[in-house]
Amino acid sequence: MIALGADHGGYELKEEIKKHLEAKGIEFVDCGTYSPASTDYPIWAKKACGEITSGRAEKGILCCGTGVGISMAANKIRGIRAACCSDYFSAKYTRLHNDANVLCLGGRVLGVGLALELVDVFLETEFEGGERHKRRIELLHSLEEN
Ligand code: RB5
Repeated sequence: MIALGADHGGYELKEEIKKHLEAKGIEFVDCGTYSPASTDYPIWAKKACGEITSGRAEKGILCCGTGVGISMAANKIRGIRAACCSDYFSAKYTRLHNDANVLCLGGRVLGVGLALELVDVFLETEFEGGERHKRRIELLHSLEEN
């Protein structure tokens, strides 16, 4: 299960991602926003990431205008490793090395074609594992405040 979330800046891209996942038979839950009306990205990051931290979804895809604000919000949530990506290499390696569980995309930055390529490589790439990557992820989560 993939949790989707967006503010107004990412709303249209989220709708494109929904069509893409539907066509591929990948299950998702749309956590909103549900219209292009102006709204606040932390709300939707919290809602979609809640699907992951509760165990209902394995991964998330979040969209805002740049992908940056919604990634900042997501990374405040314990257990979330969100990566804002605009290129293929980063979307692939954030799975291989960071075991990222959320991909953040900029609806005002990326064309739909590239965005969907990033979605695909993010969802298809497994964490490489290995002692050094696991150690770094543990260290990363040790920075989380109470
Ligand atoms: C909304 O105008 C815009 O600031 C938001 O979508 C996002 O780009 C923030 O990082």
